[in-house]
Amino acid sequence: MSAFLEVQNLSVSFPTEDGLVKATNDISYSVNLGETLAIVGESGSGKSVTNLAVMGLHNPAKTEISGKAILNLPSGPIDVISAPEEEVRKLRGSAMSMIFQDPMSSLHPYYSVGDQISEAWLLYNKGDKKAARNRSIEMLDLVGIPDPHKRVDEFPHQFSGGMRQRVMIAMALINNPKLLIADEPTTALDVTVQSQILQLIRDMQKEFNMAVILITHDLGVVAQVANRVCVMYAGKIVEESTIDDIFYDSTHPYSIGLLASIPRVDKYHGERLKVISGQPPSLINLPSGCSFQPRCEFAKYVPGNKCGIETPSLSQISTNHKVSCHLDKTQVQQLKKQAM
Ligand SMILES: Nc1ncnc2c1ncn2[C@@H]1O[C@H](COP(=O)(O)OP(=O)(O)OP(=O)(O)O)[C@@H](O)[C@H]1O
Ligand code: SF4
Ligand SMILES: [Mg+2]
Repeated sequence: MSAFLEVQNLSVSFPTEDGLVKATNDISYSVNLGETLAIVGESGSGKSVTNLAVMGLHNPAKTEISGKAILNLPSGPIDVISAPEEEVRKLRGSAMSMIFQDPMSSLHPYYSVGDQISEAWLLYNKGDKKAARNRSIEMLDLVGIPDPHKRVDEFPHQFSGGMRQRVMIAMALINNPKLLIADEPTTALDVTVQSQILQLIRDMQKEFNMAVILITHDLGVVAQVANRVCVMYAGKIVEESTIDDIFYDSTHPYSIGLLASIPRVDKYHGERLKVISGQPPSLINLPSGCSFQPRCEFAKYVPGNKCGIETPSLSQISTNHKVSCHLDKTQVQQLKKQAM
């Protein structure tokens, strides 16, 4: 059976005065219904740009997009990238929805949360304002807003950050989407609230049997909610695996670096956390060969200057595990041990 979303060879570039910014560079991934795929990577690696393309949210006059993003709907497959704008607009908020880091910038300050959620419902459903209000109350209740009959008439500033994010989730889910893209949905929240919101996304996924894409730079978040993960670096996927494989068998030098930079309860407490030295490359002038090469501690073990010349392809190294590196898994594992 096909995955619900199949992204195939997607590239997104922005023509600028300084040159073409290659934000997403020929990437492919898929998500099934009932599954959460995490997309992780440093700031600027292309996580948002990629998924905004899936939602059809780039300005076509200022963006060059190629490749496909196929939604396998019950009515048949539709490629969001090539479909007419009108058709994609109809899918947004119905078949697919997106929530962002900062609910305050997505909610209108002058309208009650009930009016805003109702508006999302009325776009796709036949019914009057009363029915929309009742549905909004139902959704507020579902996402854990206490006293929803009263709070439905309140304004965004009367809600805490975590509660606002719950409102956004209610709004995103009101038309039963089958794909939810959550772009750093908990970054602005404190740890306890973050955990509650992640739990809510997980519960909602089960309730609605959705495909979820969770964009984050936080591997702790990944461990908490995702089934699979794509690690992005400079506009490309460099490793794709199950959660277990990324935490216990990570094989791309960049993923290894990311993991070494987070605190882990299963590691010796006195161990110092490492940072990946250097900066990500300019997306206008990507280095030749492997984009990670200027920062890669392992490149010197690859014979010749292969890493500086040849771009590695994303290859299957075991079931559900793909890596793009000139070193094979055994070599990386040995080097990893030496480095520890
Ligand atoms: N409209 C645009 N015009 C030019 N460059 C852009 C545009 N939008 C994004 N970019 C660039 O594309 C690259 C990828 O951006 P993107 O927002 O996808 O990063 P990200 O991985 O989501 O980072 P963050 O974790 O900070 O949200 C960045 O270098 C960004 O500056
Ligand atoms: S291909 Fe070379 S530079 Fe790139 S990650 Fe592998 S070892 Fe490092
Ligand atoms: Mg982003």
